[in-house]
Amino acid sequence: MSVQNDAQKEQEKLINPAVLQRTGFATALGAVFATIGSAVGLGNIWKFPYLAGANGGAAFIIVYLISTLMVGLPVMVAEIMMGREARANAIETMRKLSPSKSQPWWLIGVSGALAAFLIMAFYTEVSGWVFAYVFKSISGSLLSTDPEVTSQAYASLVTSPFQSLLWQWIVLALMSLIIIRGVSKGIEATTKRLLPLLLVLLVIIDVRSLTLPGASEGLRFLFNPDFSKLTGAAILTAVGLAFFKLSVGMGTMTTYGSYWKDNQNIPSTTARVMLSDLAVSMLAGLAIFPAVFAFGFEPSAGPSLLFITIPSVFASMPLGNIFMVLFFLLTSFAATGAMLSLFEVPVAFLAESTKMGRVKATVVTAVLLALIGSTAALSSSTMADFTIFGKTMFDLYDFVSSNLLLPIGGLFISIFAGWFWGADNIRKALSNHGMLKNDLVVTGLIVIIKFVTPILLIVVLLNGLGIV
Ligand code: PFF
Repeated sequence: MSVQNDAQKEQEKLINPAVLQRTGFATALGAVFATIGSAVGLGNIWKFPYLAGANGGAAFIIVYLISTLMVGLPVMVAEIMMGREARANAIETMRKLSPSKSQPWWLIGVSGALAAFLIMAFYTEVSGWVFAYVFKSISGSLLSTDPEVTSQAYASLVTSPFQSLLWQWIVLALMSLIIIRGVSKGIEATTKRLLPLLLVLLVIIDVRSLTLPGASEGLRFLFNPDFSKLTGAAILTAVGLAFFKLSVGMGTMTTYGSYWKDNQNIPSTTARVMLSDLAVSMLAGLAIFPAVFAFGFEPSAGPSLLFITIPSVFASMPLGNIFMVLFFLLTSFAATGAMLSLFEVPVAFLAESTKMGRVKATVVTAVLLALIGSTAALSSSTMADFTIFGKTMFDLYDFVSSNLLLPIGGLFISIFAGWFWGADNIRKALSNHGMLKNDLVVTGLIVIIKFVTPILLIVVLLNGLGIV
């Protein structure tokens, strides 16, 4: 750390008390848990397996892996490194690192905060259903092999404005209670407990699913490569998924990076986060599809896979009620780590950029989320007929955030890091100011961030939007 940098930080502490109070994650391991906790979420269980199965199996997984390596991971490195250098929230990081104060790079942070709100709007709703399902599966009310019955149970939940809002608000309240406790005592402590549990539960369900007679059909659905399904839209979906999965393109990782330790090795740690996330996605696919096919169910899309098909699948197996409880419990753990990181983006910004403090910032964020989120929550009931471009608010938020805002945010983040913040700064940040001897890796990353990531993103965005 240069002397000038230190002096600058000291001065900022005097000016802004929120900077003085900035605690960050207590340990390097805690930072890793929280970051994996952000990446691992409903995306692994609700999005990845189905998208892979429906878009060409292994063919889609290959495109997803390339997107993750060439686009998702480099943007994650860029975000964490810039956040850690600036030690500030997502908007402030861009403003601080911008070479000229007249360039509006902070707008990337603003678009990120917008994406965080849109994602939270539908994410808290799906999470609310997951939390509701934990209780419903414990009560045994979901235990039917007839998808008609489980689809009734699902419909009675989502078409009830009262229940939809209630569960969303319960989730928001729970997340607020954790966020208020702070970065280390709240986020770090929670994710450190939940992640190992999640993994154990997932492996138990994997063993159960893979040992069912007829499980191999599910493996074929997930892995059989079908390159004919790889359309431009499917590729944009794979890129969008890579962003959504790694929680990048919108400032979450910038915010978390600002809480990482100075001596953490960013390239190798982010690679481990990515691999852990991929492992959970694969384990989720292996938990779901072998069982779905073993009992002759159709793999459906989106929420109905999670909330209609899966309960019937569990009901078909011996001791299925226990496995069902474990499954929804692990899904709620996954959703929690991801929601905490989404919540933290606006909370860090509000707490640091205004004088309101963390508690008030959390309450303001939760109220705003409840307002925006209610339009997603009511998408299956009161607002079912309110559509824009033929999409309900729920679907619109999902589409606009994953397929547009995240890739566009990622594009500008890589351009900013590679071309404006520049190779020298990247080299310093990623070598921990000369402490790490990782020249080759860093050079490779600089080339990817400067050229490969932006070019690929431009091509994919134009193609996916039907412009090229
Ligand atoms: N990565 C999370 C998932 O796969 O479910 C979703 C997510 C969390 C996206 C946080 C974006 C984000 F900032």
